[in-house]
Amino acid sequence: MSRSRTNSARLFSEAQSLIPGGVNSPVRAFKAVGGNPLFIESAQGCRLRDVDGNEYIDYVGSWGPLILGHAHPDVVRAIQQAALRGTSYGAPTPLEVELARKIHHFFPSMERVRLVSSGTEAVMSALRVARAFTGRDKILKFDGCYHGHSDSLLVQSGSGVATLGLPDSAGVPSEFTSHTLSIPFNDLEALEKAFTKYKNQIAAVIVEPVPANMGVILPGPNFLSELLLLCRKHQTLVIFDEVITGFRLAAGGAQEFFGLSAPLTCLGKIVGGGLPLAAYGGRSDIMKLIAPDGPVYQAGTLSGNPIAVSAGLKTLDILETEKPYGRLEKMAAKLVEGISQAASHSGIALRVQRCGSMLTPFFSDAPVTDFLSAKRSDTSLFGSFFRKMLERGIYLAPSQFEACFVSSAHSDQEIAVTIQRANEALSEVAASV
Ligand SMILES: Cc1ncc(COP(=O)(O)O)c(C=O)c1O
Repeated sequence: MSRSRTNSARLFSEAQSLIPGGVNSPVRAFKAVGGNPLFIESAQGCRLRDVDGNEYIDYVGSWGPLILGHAHPDVVRAIQQAALRGTSYGAPTPLEVELARKIHHFFPSMERVRLVSSGTEAVMSALRVARAFTGRDKILKFDGCYHGHSDSLLVQSGSGVATLGLPDSAGVPSEFTSHTLSIPFNDLEALEKAFTKYKNQIAAVIVEPVPANMGVILPGPNFLSELLLLCRKHQTLVIFDEVITGFRLAAGGAQEFFGLSAPLTCLGKIVGGGLPLAAYGGRSDIMKLIAPDGPVYQAGTLSGNPIAVSAGLKTLDILETEKPYGRLEKMAAKLVEGISQAASHSGIALRVQRCGSMLTPFFSDAPVTDFLSAKRSDTSLFGSFFRKMLERGIYLAPSQFEACFVSSAHSDQEIAVTIQRANEALSEVAASV
């Protein structure tokens, strides 16, 4: 059973002398689960191969983008063909118009769309235009939601009602986050209190409609619709951060899934088909404030990069033709059922929370509805489960506070194998507590 990881270990040690923490994004370092990260050599479909020749069934999918699995042949072909025509022009292309049209088709609320290169950039820019449109400075987010690493959004989870934000990261002056409010997710009362306390001051409420960055948490039955109504009443814009949920829960993201519509939306991950591309957009009366039409400056050398746009377009085309959402949902539901049964056989308190094809196993016996309840789950049990699954060739998200994703490249067979491995792993976890 034991897999050699000597090449990964050697590379990690070398990387640590050259790259901060040995990784180019912190959660890749496996700090939350223990052990060293795997260095990946290649991937195909739902399988990853590391530099020691071990194979894994992958439920990370590059943290969400790879809904079609790794190296989908049509996406790879689109990338190759685009590269042959040149890698970047710094001038408009017909493909950008096509992608904007397609995004608008799936997200009718995105009447105007601006392409950027990362989710962080999309969110940062959406906030800027929201502030310009409303003439207000404050923004409100929810504890445990992640919206990229721009200064004003790195705010410690506030406890209680609408605490003024304190920076969560060294290097962020407190003045930069002094306009950021953070309240518990699913708490409409806290939202109403924030509107009372900061009357006519809140430019935008930004929300992951189904948070995935504190593990998968479901919005209460009326939470999102009431949030939209309250914000309209207070002339505050709502930004749906659909960087994860966009094209994941449905082609039209959480907005289609729940039958809602947001004034501003951010997309990332799937929209770029595995390449660096993201987008923000919304009502045309808001978006017309962006340069060169209006006074809100936002720009990017590689924005709308033709290779990334080609990968994104092909991915969206395939999603439109193949409509994988029913099958994804069924596979994910089966996985949740299998893991939950395995946990109950082993006598372990485990709740697997799921929305569509995204899911998180929380080692907890109480419902997880917000950041506070997510933090009550047993992260050391999660770490142990993660390591035992990895040892058995199953690559889960390496943190309790992330989502696992099922892709259309998974099949019933891989789901069955994963459930079998979860059975073994959970009985070992149970034996060790
Ligand atoms: C909901 C959400 N918004 C924004 C971001 C930031 O996107 P990126 O990592 O592309 O900057 C992420 C990244 O995981 C995310 O999950």
